[in-house]
Amino acid sequence: MPAKLSTKDLQGQMMSLNRIGIALTKEQDLNQLLALILTESRLFTNAEAGSLYVREGQQLRFSVSQNDVLDARKKAELKAQKKQLEVVPSTFTGFYVSLDKSSLAGYVGVTAKVLNLLDVYKVPAGKEYKFNRSFDEKNNYRTKSMLIVPMKDASGNVVGVIQLINAHKGKNIVPFDKHYENLVLSLASQAAIAIRNAMLTQELKEAYLDTIFRLSVAAEYKDDDTASHIHRMSRYSAILAEGLGLSAAEVESIRYASPMHDIGKLGVPDSILMKPGKLTPAEFKEMQNHTVFGAKILENAKAELLKVSEIIAMTHHEKWDGSGYPRGLKGESIPLSGRVVALADVFDALTSKRCYKPAFSLEDSMKIIKEGSGRHFDAKVVQAFSDNLEKILAVKAQFSN
Ligand code: C2E
Ligand code: SIN
Ligand code: SIN
Ligand code: FE
Repeated sequence: MPAKLSTKDLQGQMMSLNRIGIALTKEQDLNQLLALILTESRLFTNAEAGSLYVREGQQLRFSVSQNDVLDARKKAELKAQKKQLEVVPSTFTGFYVSLDKSSLAGYVGVTAKVLNLLDVYKVPAGKEYKFNRSFDEKNNYRTKSMLIVPMKDASGNVVGVIQLINAHKGKNIVPFDKHYENLVLSLASQAAIAIRNAMLTQELKEAYLDTIFRLSVAAEYKDDDTASHIHRMSRYSAILAEGLGLSAAEVESIRYASPMHDIGKLGVPDSILMKPGKLTPAEFKEMQNHTVFGAKILENAKAELLKVSEIIAMTHHEKWDGSGYPRGLKGESIPLSGRVVALADVFDALTSKRCYKPAFSLEDSMKIIKEGSGRHFDAKVVQAFSDNLEKILAVKAQFSN
């Protein structure tokens, strides 16, 4: 056994734990959070590899895998073949291990005990668990020392398992220092709480987005339309936003805010919405109110996404040359999100059948869009549309009712 850790080691570890704790509370994306937890645990223990399992019911999902040795080998092979490293190597994720005592991870998951093994090929007979060598055999790899700890949440429930593989002292593989057990355990518990929070946040976000889609579809039902229109619109808008070089966050915001652009149609009489023929000028005037109604429904929201939705509802029928409604805004005084959705909306209306018109061919629709460049539409948005036509058409094909 190695000597007791020095005060200096302990101080270093405390600082490291603090740093990890702060990083954990900041990271909201679950997958990135899991990868961060594994990376930090490995750094902490000087482990060349590791994997992380997340509990799902009576199973453990193999969620993150890292292996410096296999990665380096892969890189060297590619270099010998003079090939560029195009994909990030390793990470064989996505399979499940049963939550029972037959495997190492399962054993730790069930018993919530730490396993610290000097050599997994020499597990004494009579133990309930057994090391599965199939990964080693397939990859010509030797797993030797292993530290496996449960990730326990505040109530003591196991939410996952961390496996650390092959601790190093210089080039040598050594057993995991016993002193690390409690430190990794406490890190794993911090991680467990962070994971629970990230899952709740994710669930909340999904529920929120689902509600938005259902509401938007409800508004469109009156208009004799389907959910597909909402999905196409949202995706077209995201493609255009991306093509315009907006940040990933802005693209997401437009993607999720655009479905509600026509929510104000809830306030337009069915007799107008579902009229088979052309609207009279008075009826069209009334139809135009759906922009103002929509913005009214969404006004004073706290959530950033709903604020963007309000702007889109209000401005998606404005035209670049100032001839749109409800306010006759012109050029860049129309918010960019409104300019983006205007094109996505019209393209979808043109290429779809409506109660008042047949679907136009792609050719005719494109012609109308291009003629509208600099008049109805912002020319930059039309350019982004042309540049990304392939992606647009892929979405059109995918959601073709
Ligand atoms: P919508 O059907 O979703 O159409 C959205 C926008 O696509 C229209 O906004 C218009 O800019 C464009 N668009 C749709 N069809 C055509 C077309 O045949 N040719 C051209 N050049 N553009 C087209 P707009 O005009 O402000 O209409 C807003 C909404 O009012 C429409 O949404 C639809 O629900 C309703 N609407 C418009 N015209 C009629 C009509 O003649 N009859 C009926 N029943 N509803 C209409
Ligand atoms: C989603 O991807 O689940 C919603 C966005 C969309 O349908 O375009
Ligand atoms: C709004 O319509 O509520 C804001 C959009 C704009 O800036 O004109
Ligand atoms: Fe509209």
